Amino acid sequence: MDIRLFQPGDLPELRRITIEGFEGIAIDQNVENQLGVLAGHDWKWRKARHVDEDCEANPTGVFVAVEGETILGYISTRIDREAGKGRIPNLAVDSRQRGQGVGRALIQYAVDYLREQGMAFVMIETMVNNPIGQHLYPSCGFVEAGRQIHYAMKL
Ligand SMILES: CC(C)(COP(=O)(O)OP(=O)(O)OC[C@H]1O[C@@H](n2cnc3c(N)ncnc32)[C@H](O)[C@@H]1OP(=O)(O)O)[C@@H](O)C(=O)NCCC(=O)NCCS
Repeated sequence: MDIRLFQPGDLPELRRITIEGFEGIAIDQNVENQLGVLAGHDWKWRKARHVDEDCEANPTGVFVAVEGETILGYISTRIDREAGKGRIPNLAVDSRQRGQGVGRALIQYAVDYLREQGMAFVMIETMVNNPIGQHLYPSCGFVEAGRQIHYAMKL
């Protein structure tokens, strides 16, 4: 497995892996379950859009794990230089490629990148109904810093 910088041609596959991976654990899906489809777009459309936003916001901080031509998964990062804060907004591994250390390797790669960029700390978040994140992140060295409740209201 190699980890490389994302290329614009990766986007359709990154969107697919994202939608597949976040089924059942996406905040946008929870909102849709409560309020119905909003503004003519379902949660999959909203979630896939996060990938585009990440690639636009920090194109040199989105990394893709590959085996030959096959994309195994990806991780995105954001940088707030003034605050010294790195963030990992999205991480997903193709369901057929999980459990082989790809997710852990992507986190390690992103953390090294953020350290090289001079960040003082890095944050990542997970939903309470996502047991993998709650196991994986502490085991990569993250400590729990708080829990947040998301509310939504239809207008
Ligand atoms: C989270 C995700 C990226 C992990 O990718 P992965 O390549 O399978 O991760 P790894 O193989 O590096 O293994 C990660 C750890 O999760 C553990 N794990 C796997 N399934 C698990 C489960 N159902 N419950 C708890 N832990 C689980 C593995 O045992 C491993 O821990 P270990 O190394 O201590 O044994 C992948 O599961 C995924 O894409 N999930 C859907 C999207 C998602 O949840 N993204 C993160 C949102 S916060």
